[in-house]
Amino acid sequence: MIEKKNIKKFYLDKVKKLIKFNEAYFEKDNPIVSDKIFDELKKELLDLSNKYPFLKEIKNIEEVVGSKPSEKFKKIKHTKPMLSLTNAFNKEDMFDFGKKIKNYLNINTQEELSAEPKIDGISASLRYINGKMVYGLSRGDGIFGEDITENLSTISEIPKKIFNAPKIIDVRGEVYISKKDFEKLKNKFANPRNAAGGSLRQKNSKETKKIPLKFFAYGAGEIEPKTFKDQTELLTNLKKWGFPINKYCKKVKTLEEIEKAHSELESIRSSLDYDVDGIVYKVNNLSLQNRLGSTSNSPRWAIAYKFSSVKAISKIKEIAIQVGRTGAITPVAKIDPVTVGGVVVSNATLHNEDEISRKDIRVNDIILVQRAGDVIPQVLSVDKSKRSVKSKKFIFPTKCLCGYETKKETSLTTKKKDAVRRCSRGYECNFIAKEKLKHIVSKDAFDIEGLGKKVIDNFWELGLIKTPSDIFNLDYKKIEKLEGWGNLSIKNLKNAVSSSKNVILDKFIFSIGIRHIGQENAKILANFFKRSEKFSELFNSKKRKEILKNLDDLDGIGETQIKSIEDFFSNTKNAQIIQSLMNVLSIKDFEKKIKSGKLSNKNIMFTGGFKKMSRSEAKAIAEENGAKILGSVTKKLDYLVIGNSKPTTKKIQIAKDLKINILTEDKWYDILDR
Ligand code: IVH
Repeated sequence: MIEKKNIKKFYLDKVKKLIKFNEAYFEKDNPIVSDKIFDELKKELLDLSNKYPFLKEIKNIEEVVGSKPSEKFKKIKHTKPMLSLTNAFNKEDMFDFGKKIKNYLNINTQEELSAEPKIDGISASLRYINGKMVYGLSRGDGIFGEDITENLSTISEIPKKIFNAPKIIDVRGEVYISKKDFEKLKNKFANPRNAAGGSLRQKNSKETKKIPLKFFAYGAGEIEPKTFKDQTELLTNLKKWGFPINKYCKKVKTLEEIEKAHSELESIRSSLDYDVDGIVYKVNNLSLQNRLGSTSNSPRWAIAYKFSSVKAISKIKEIAIQVGRTGAITPVAKIDPVTVGGVVVSNATLHNEDEISRKDIRVNDIILVQRAGDVIPQVLSVDKSKRSVKSKKFIFPTKCLCGYETKKETSLTTKKKDAVRRCSRGYECNFIAKEKLKHIVSKDAFDIEGLGKKVIDNFWELGLIKTPSDIFNLDYKKIEKLEGWGNLSIKNLKNAVSSSKNVILDKFIFSIGIRHIGQENAKILANFFKRSEKFSELFNSKKRKEILKNLDDLDGIGETQIKSIEDFFSNTKNAQIIQSLMNVLSIKDFEKKIKSGKLSNKNIMFTGGFKKMSRSEAKAIAEENGAKILGSVTKKLDYLVIGNSKPTTKKIQIAKDLKINILTEDKWYDILDR
């Protein structure tokens, strides 16, 4: 029998070759072998890794081939961010989407929606001024895009001139490759989406031209002047100007119509010549879209209802536990590898202890696994009829992988016991520490390209990174000697690490991973501290007490967040680690663009429900007009606005005692001239 060690060596040697060919082709646009040799090598490695699945764990060929986003394109700021979409997977999720809209707008009726196929390609934004295309950008990080004008210009379906259009318009849409055209490129790319992405980022637009890219327009960024009343009207005009619009776009209203549109498209999905992975539902009325606005990452007015997932049968080999960055202990089923919708799955989440006991999931059970879109595969159910009589109930471990006891906490707000067990040792637990590192380098945090989860695992094992500040003091001499690290990838990593040293305070606060402090709360805190020096006062226990008292005034920061900040900074190891990190960074002050308006420099607080809008929208409007929202009644407050439905009498009384201006909902609208 051939030895596993020899297969591994044989495979890795060839992978090295493929990486070299790939780099030459995709990153330097200077192929060093013919397409035929490239394809044959790739096929040989794919066959080998299919025969010996352990090789995929070492290096997955699909991840090796293709082009990486690179430094080669100029970055341009999107005039309006290109956000992503929240996903829905079933009718309940869609019901919740509708409910949230109604709550936010404080209405009872269901709004009309535009239902549009979600094309699985690469998004692009094309800017037209006076009808002429001036540039085209990739999505990039959503804030800055890459200038890929030349490559986009090779797409014949994109008009270079449009007539009778607004003076300024950013046309947004999806670049894709048809399934038929993909057949010819199958050996180079894992799927049509990768092919479109790889082709769009070619340095040499002549290479792009060789790959037949197509385009569907689905929306707009900046439009000036704003002449359209709804999404449907925008789509009609995009079509008039010559953009391809998907023919399955339609208007829907009720949950039944949403389901019908979804199942109809799903039934013809495989017959379409392009990949679709769901339907995007958008509130049709553009002024309502504007009122609804967005959270940090996604608009409140749209959702991607994904097509149903793919399922498969397998067997649980082992139930292991994983420790998350907040200390949460998640059980994971290690299963016999099974292909679910073209992807080999060998791990599936079991959520938490309660889920295991509710479904009575045991080792050696035959199970149904499900994989939906980009979410983690999950164990859906157990076939108890196939269970052996010797099978034993699974006893959930009470200890973390670090050996210390875990706890189920009681929520401060709901007073209910959490379903999740947690290790509370923060950076003192090696398993949590490693996950925190993965969070720090992730896209929404420091966004260090080249330092993915697998690399962190690898560097951790090798002792190259143990704490966040190690990321900025990497021993590149050692990395040079590692498998898969060539000159170019090291150069890219150095650049990515060095440019991430400049970080704005809100991103820094989010990145250090304080529990209950997500992106929105990090912004609120950054706006409070403004400078990193002020934030550092949290390390001082006396000053911390004082600060935590003041945090209570901030809208959005409650008891849960304050307790979490206290826990985080009172842990000496955490404090030490974060201080060393701060020493190697250059943390920029947070400057919230305070809008100037009728409420500039005014502190406002709302209590009770309003007639015309939700509290969330009222707050957003107040901020739009320059106000600062407070979370409690203090002397600093200028106005307490009281809604007619269930205002807190205690707050009103304190406001009266402090002689604070109390406004009714109508009075408040008067101030705003609305
Ligand atoms: S609307 C605010 N409509 O899906 C986002 N997106 O995660 C507005 N996509 O990156 C996007 N088809 O590239 C919209 N008909 C469609 C779409 C669509 C595909 C992509 C888009 C975006 C991703 C959402």
